[in-house]
Amino acid sequence: MRILFRNIKSLVGIGHPMAALRGEQLADLNILSPAWLLTEGERIHSFGREGTSSDLPNADQIIDCTGRFMLPSFCDSHTHLVFATSREEEFVDKISGRTYAEIAAKGGGILSSAIKLAAMPEKQLFRESMVKLDKIAASGTGAIEIKSGYGLTVEAELKMLRVIKQLKAASRLPIKASFLGAHAIPPAYKQNREGYIRLLIEDMLPIIQAEGLADFIDVFCEQGFFTPAETIRICEAGKQIGLKPKIHANQLAVSGGVQAGIEVGALSVDHLESMDMEAIHALAESGTIGTLLPTAAYFLRMAPPPARQLIEAGAAIALASDFNPGSSPAYRMEGVVSMACIQLKMLPEEAIQAATINGAFAMGLEVETGSIHPGKWANLLLTNQVPSIAYLPYAFSETSIHQVYLKGRLLKTA
Ligand code: NIG
Ligand code: FE
Repeated sequence: MRILFRNIKSLVGIGHPMAALRGEQLADLNILSPAWLLTEGERIHSFGREGTSSDLPNADQIIDCTGRFMLPSFCDSHTHLVFATSREEEFVDKISGRTYAEIAAKGGGILSSAIKLAAMPEKQLFRESMVKLDKIAASGTGAIEIKSGYGLTVEAELKMLRVIKQLKAASRLPIKASFLGAHAIPPAYKQNREGYIRLLIEDMLPIIQAEGLADFIDVFCEQGFFTPAETIRICEAGKQIGLKPKIHANQLAVSGGVQAGIEVGALSVDHLESMDMEAIHALAESGTIGTLLPTAAYFLRMAPPPARQLIEAGAAIALASDFNPGSSPAYRMEGVVSMACIQLKMLPEEAIQAATINGAFAMGLEVETGSIHPGKWANLLLTNQVPSIAYLPYAFSETSIHQVYLKGRLLKTA
């Protein structure tokens, strides 16, 4: 099946960079106007400038895109979408003045999600996660990372990872799985941190390896959760079985998490709301991507991560949703891009590239997706008839997406 998209106002995000975009490269968004693009099966076949040649390629279907922009689908490199229930009661607690750390210390937060998840049968967890995944795909996300971490027992962590494995098989959406057993110390191990860390390394990792349940290893490196030294130890154990580190760092405090991530060669260090110049420069000089999660910072009323300082220092920045019931009950990447422009002062071009190609790099999927290039998956967004690319983040309360194509197939028409 060949689909020819004709009269595209601008084809946005063209190219095939060999490394995540950093510093000034992020604002350099490649655009061709006007343009045509041909898909063949699941892949982008070719594209060109509209009107320069009379012989356009043959196709089974021709779609007129007059007035519309075409972009690569979003790549959401950080989510916790497998969860049992929402947590709006904590949302109200926070309005009444309790902090995230206070709620966590009282057994709320991650621990309350763990209790709910333990009680939900695997089949139900899969069904409900699949419903979320379908909505996420229809919203314009074309590749996604999903973490465990609401299990915190051998049984429940494996249940989560097996659900993610089933999602990989059942969904058209490309998925990467991260093992986040080190998301919190469960109450049963409160006086025995060492025991829980050994459970992760000695009991969970071998089963994860045997069943092929994860691509990445994640640790919540944070005061009150896991120290930098524990993070390094857990990541090194994960690396032994082929899992690349991708960690939570510097969310609530300047914790040394960024440096710990760099030390273990993490693909990304995520959050970064609490940064000092040392951490900014260490990240900029490393090959590790800094993934910013603007909706989580916004929802928790935290100071936004220092995107401008990171970009000016020359760091590679990605944007992701952090979709989870506690700190970011929001999966729409259009909203993430808007929030990055409004709160983090990223330019629309920077935010779009951070949410597409750099997100693909942050999942190791850059060869397959994240930009417009022949041979990549035809994961494409066609916009409404909007005046400019900047209109997308500017009109922050509405969707500007008209159609979503996932591996060459139309998913939604607005
Ligand atoms: O990325 N920071 C740790 N984990 C999640 C929050 C999880 C939760 O509150 O349920 C996050 O924000
Ligand atoms: Fe997270």
